[in-house]
Amino acid sequence: MCGIIGYAGSQGALEVVIDGLRRLEYRGYDSAGVALLTDQGLAIEKRAGKLSNLMNSLAGRPLDPSTTGIGHTRWATHGGPTDRNAHPHTDCEHKLAVIHNGIIENFVELRQALEKKGHEFSSDTDTESVAHLLEDEYRECNSDLAEAMRRVCRQLRGAFTLVAIHVESPHQVVGARRNSPLVVGRGVDENFLASDVSAFIAHTRSAIELGQDQVVDLRPDSIEITNFDGTPAVTNEYEVTWDSAAAEKGGFDHFMLKEIEEQPRAVNETLMGRVGIDGRLILDEMRLSDDELREIDKIIVIGCGTAYHAGLIAKYAIEHWTRIPVEIELASEFRYRDPIVDRSTLVIAISQSGETMDTLMALRHAREQRARVLAICNTNGSTIPRESDAVFYTHAGPEIAVASTKAFLTQIVAAYLVGLYLAQVRGTKFGDEISEILTQLSAMPAKIEQVLETMEPVRKLANTLKDKQSVLFLGRHVGFPVALEGALKLKELAYMHAEGFAAGELKHGPIALIEEGTPVIVTVPSPRGRSIIHDKVLSNIQEVRARGALTIVIAEEGDESVINFADHIIRIPTCPTLLQPLLATVPLQVFACEMATIKGFDVDQPRNLAKSVTVE
Ligand code: M6R
Repeated sequence: MCGIIGYAGSQGALEVVIDGLRRLEYRGYDSAGVALLTDQGLAIEKRAGKLSNLMNSLAGRPLDPSTTGIGHTRWATHGGPTDRNAHPHTDCEHKLAVIHNGIIENFVELRQALEKKGHEFSSDTDTESVAHLLEDEYRECNSDLAEAMRRVCRQLRGAFTLVAIHVESPHQVVGARRNSPLVVGRGVDENFLASDVSAFIAHTRSAIELGQDQVVDLRPDSIEITNFDGTPAVTNEYEVTWDSAAAEKGGFDHFMLKEIEEQPRAVNETLMGRVGIDGRLILDEMRLSDDELREIDKIIVIGCGTAYHAGLIAKYAIEHWTRIPVEIELASEFRYRDPIVDRSTLVIAISQSGETMDTLMALRHAREQRARVLAICNTNGSTIPRESDAVFYTHAGPEIAVASTKAFLTQIVAAYLVGLYLAQVRGTKFGDEISEILTQLSAMPAKIEQVLETMEPVRKLANTLKDKQSVLFLGRHVGFPVALEGALKLKELAYMHAEGFAAGELKHGPIALIEEGTPVIVTVPSPRGRSIIHDKVLSNIQEVRARGALTIVIAEEGDESVINFADHIIRIPTCPTLLQPLLATVPLQVFACEMATIKGFDVDQPRNLAKSVTVE
């Protein structure tokens, strides 16, 4: 959701903060703002719209020099995306400034009480209540900003990352977190606070995970972390393994294009180092013992959006390889249906960011029911893996574009490896069968590369279809979640009506949507091995074609049977059906990205969205 940065050091704070915001803007881009502690007091500038609006306004009205500052880029929840509601927010005396990510659930009662005491509000946000509460508590606790923050946090309900500065303490930044991310960056004579490490990776790779319900008191030469009750906190310091270049566009027009191109490497890295010299699969981070894994009698996969689609695909493979029943559920729905979960249930939580609130809340619910939780995550040190019993890290590298691409492919690979590991431990597959699938998986990066090399016709196709009202996506078996993912990408990026269907469902209603020229993109499974599904999909293509659809068929090389029914054919290399989503999704990503570009939309920051959804 929102992006947050705080800096205390010796460099110009404005430059550090703006550079951090530039790297965090993918988290939210409804407004942006900065607050600096200067010799003249608190200097604030904030603007609705993208960071560039703030930068233009700063160019026309430079702020006084400062070495301590905070910055915020917003995804609006409470209060529309206006200058007035942009963060930072201040107290009545304009002495302190606060930025916030999350939702303060009890802000209405807090605001009423504060107004009764005479505080004057100047925005519609929940955040401003925190500024006024801090004002009172700061006075109450002898001008100790960290203690004031702890006292305030104890009064708040909901999810929040808060960062504050006060004019009376010109070298101090105080941060706090509950259910929302905040990472500390340790530098030399300078320290940082941010929603994620990308904001300060250009300055330091040394990071500290701030735990749940902790407050950090940051100065240029010290970092003090306490729990909300004031006791010293236990923390985990680590080195970030990627460098700042990984979070740059590297010559591409958009992060999304770069991330699509990075997929062969991302899949390769996720596969690397998973097989021991005896040929057996080893999952180092799997903190669940073989005995625990043998006790499992049900798996529930949870995730949101693209991560949910990865889970849908994983179900086919994990059930097939392990014979354990697998349910897949939208994380946002999971805990509300009173799911049947106990100690023998393995919940697999899939999340690129590791911060998605719906997924976090679902996994907490699962753990309360004593289920074992395994996280599949791309972000080291984030909340979801921290709160899980076991973790499998995908090695996709930072994903900056809001639309998820390389995270999706690596989530599928990770879930497959987990499935194979379970099959190995439980003996539902022989060693040579597992080795064969691993060999097939290891061939996928080169095949994804091949797909990427043949994308020009897909770009041209996007141009041909740019004026269409609606695009439908069809698939069966693992091709069904691929269809859902293709439709999600097109909606998210090109703002077009798009829907994915299980091809067999079409005749139960959706076929009524087909008119003359309606584009229907169909993924055709390999004719080898599962010819029955292949033939059924061919029949479905004929059904839509007979009703006037323009058929765009994704089929493997050499499958001549599709030629007579396809207006356009997108060829992908041959591979087993279960692995086909790793190839078939790529043209759909390129198609959506190109469509958004043609329509002049912001590919990396589509409207109304944010990368990391840290509110429910
Ligand atoms: O960080 P997560 O993987 O938990 O995010 C889940 C979804 O919000 C995310 O996949 C979203 O659907 C993407 N923007 C889709 O491209």
